Amino acid sequence: MARVLVVGGGIGGLWTAVRAADAGHEVELVTKTELADGNTRHAQGGIAAALFPDDSAERHFADTIEAGAGLGDPASVRVLCDEGPARVRDLIRFGVAFDHGDSGLERGLEAAHSRARILHAGGDATGAAIEHALVATVRRRAVRIHEHTMLVDLLVTAGPDGGRVTGARLLSASGDLFEATADAVVLATGGAGQLFCHTTNPDVATGDGVAAAWRAGAEVADLEFVQFHPTALAAPGTPLISEAVRGEGAVLRDAEGHRFMADLDPRAELAPRDVVARAVWRRSLEQDGVPVTLDATALGRAFLDRRFPGLGAACRDAGFDWAAEPVPVTPAAHYAMGGVVTDLDGRTSLPGLFAVGETARTGVHGANRLASNSLLEAAVFADRAVRALPEAGHSARPAGAPPVGAPHEASGNPETHAGAPVDRAALQALMWQHVGLERTAGGLAAASAVLDAWRAPEPHDRRTAEDRNLLDLARLTVAAAAARTESVGAHFRADAATDRARTSTRPAAGRRHHDVAGVHQIADAEEAA
Ligand code: SIN
Repeated sequence: MARVLVVGGGIGGLWTAVRAADAGHEVELVTKTELADGNTRHAQGGIAAALFPDDSAERHFADTIEAGAGLGDPASVRVLCDEGPARVRDLIRFGVAFDHGDSGLERGLEAAHSRARILHAGGDATGAAIEHALVATVRRRAVRIHEHTMLVDLLVTAGPDGGRVTGARLLSASGDLFEATADAVVLATGGAGQLFCHTTNPDVATGDGVAAAWRAGAEVADLEFVQFHPTALAAPGTPLISEAVRGEGAVLRDAEGHRFMADLDPRAELAPRDVVARAVWRRSLEQDGVPVTLDATALGRAFLDRRFPGLGAACRDAGFDWAAEPVPVTPAAHYAMGGVVTDLDGRTSLPGLFAVGETARTGVHGANRLASNSLLEAAVFADRAVRALPEAGHSARPAGAPPVGAPHEASGNPETHAGAPVDRAALQALMWQHVGLERTAGGLAAASAVLDAWRAPEPHDRRTAEDRNLLDLARLTVAAAAARTESVGAHFRADAATDRARTSTRPAAGRRHHDVAGVHQIADAEEAA
């Protein structure tokens, strides 16, 4: 049986650790903060799967491909939709109590789903319920857990057929760098919402696994496809207001109170997420940066309190009573469709290295992820990755063999780069301004020039290690966005000659991005705080 190092404590990492331990592997799990502190617990809407008699894997497949603007990999999407129901049943066995009504499991509707198929728990606390159940499950397994331990780099050893990953360089809670060897490393470090100054993601989402895999020479792809969620509350911290709220009937209104989405797409508020996010962004531009509002008042206080207790509290914390008034919303960076390229079993291009969850680019999301497919993807492909782990240990780094130098050292080697150390807040603002919902060749070139002038810090603590990762990923994302000159899905080129994106809204001319879409309201509130 193999020695398996799992990096990350969200659904992908926990699922891998539990299943690998059950399969008899020797498992260590490292996580940057505490086990439950990743993106998973912030997931509100739920988990999508074709579980009901009026639904089918075929319908779920078609919706996923359509939402992904046709760029999803059909083989991966097939696996996701066919195996999804079994993984949801596994979650129930792990102890997740999905919400029930009088006639059985409750199910919600979200954007671009042709059927109500989203299971939820605790109303709007699905991610937290899943995280809780999986943390309890992993603690009952023989898994060695190291919290407050961060991935810095992968160990790669040369072989006749190229490099093999043989472990990882880690940073301990006390700030010591050390090496852990393994027969297989599974990256499950989540996404990189912290590339942007407005994000629904927690602080830990700095793309550590993708950056380390790239530095080690693994193939990464689709980094230009960053999903911006249409409805983050336009308040400090941009808390997420789940798409499930629109699924229950809430509508978007402009400054005149007009329900503008109905003019733009027959699916109105339930058009694919990229379409709605771009429309929200543009309407805010057109009204001089005043945020549009999400109007859930027609749902009634009793329903809102029962179905979305966490969201009601988030609105109250920001000073809004959403049962009584529409609340201001703005798009915010939410999810990375791209990442480390994997096959259908989580294998990356480097032997010994696997990736699952948001870290992986399995191909299921195409250019825009279908709502509530992310938790499902993590479960389905983590399960498959465990089945693909080596039976017996591949030898870890042979005694005395030095690790091969990382093939990509553009940002990773501070020695070779002059310039000021990267400034995280400035990087996040730069990415929002030039690599946000609308991109142009000029903006991307400007972003690239600024990024090139920064150097990565030596990774000696969590902050510096994260900054190095953010700089690497920002450069890669800008390069990917510049290379894709057409608009498709979440990647919108305002200067594209052809527009494969599905929105028909009119661009607002002559406005500067940082003046709009709730950003100055957020900035005002932050200043006032
Ligand atoms: C939401 O609840 O709107 C987010 C769920 C998701 O990202 O799929």
